[in-house]
Amino acid sequence: MATERTLSIIKPDGVEKNIIGQILTRFEEAGLKIIGARMMMLSEQQAKSFYEVHKDRPFYNDLVSYMTTGPVFVSVLEGESAVSKNRELMGATDPKEANPGTIRADFAESIDANTVHGSDSVENAAKEVAFFFPDLA
Ligand code: CMP
Repeated sequence: MATERTLSIIKPDGVEKNIIGQILTRFEEAGLKIIGARMMMLSEQQAKSFYEVHKDRPFYNDLVSYMTTGPVFVSVLEGESAVSKNRELMGATDPKEANPGTIRADFAESIDANTVHGSDSVENAAKEVAFFFPDLA
């Protein structure tokens, strides 16, 4: 087990529902420490660049549009196995498939408005943390 850092984004639906605090509490109660955070509006260019790995997928344009509809809350979580722990807390990408008690099962509406993003590997976490928080990379 290793101490890791991972990137979390509370998406526009999570910010709109006023559940930033509830989501952060889940991270903290699971032993993850919030070591950096900021609320921001993503520009189209930032959203395109952040999700560039998906640029050839059919959902890319919708994803970029959705992520720029309202403010997002971006944070860096640190702790033992932070990447996989955060993914367990989030649940499956499609909320219909997310395990009960996970963030997406409890709050998400659709695969696009799925409340949270979390890095999917230690390697991508390093890139994603650097994207928003160069000082923490
Ligand atoms: P996220 O973890 O932010 O990573 C990419 C996002 O694309 C994903 O969550 C979903 O919100 C969105 N998305 C839309 N359709 C799909 C799909 N078929 N497979 C994966 N992600 C999708």
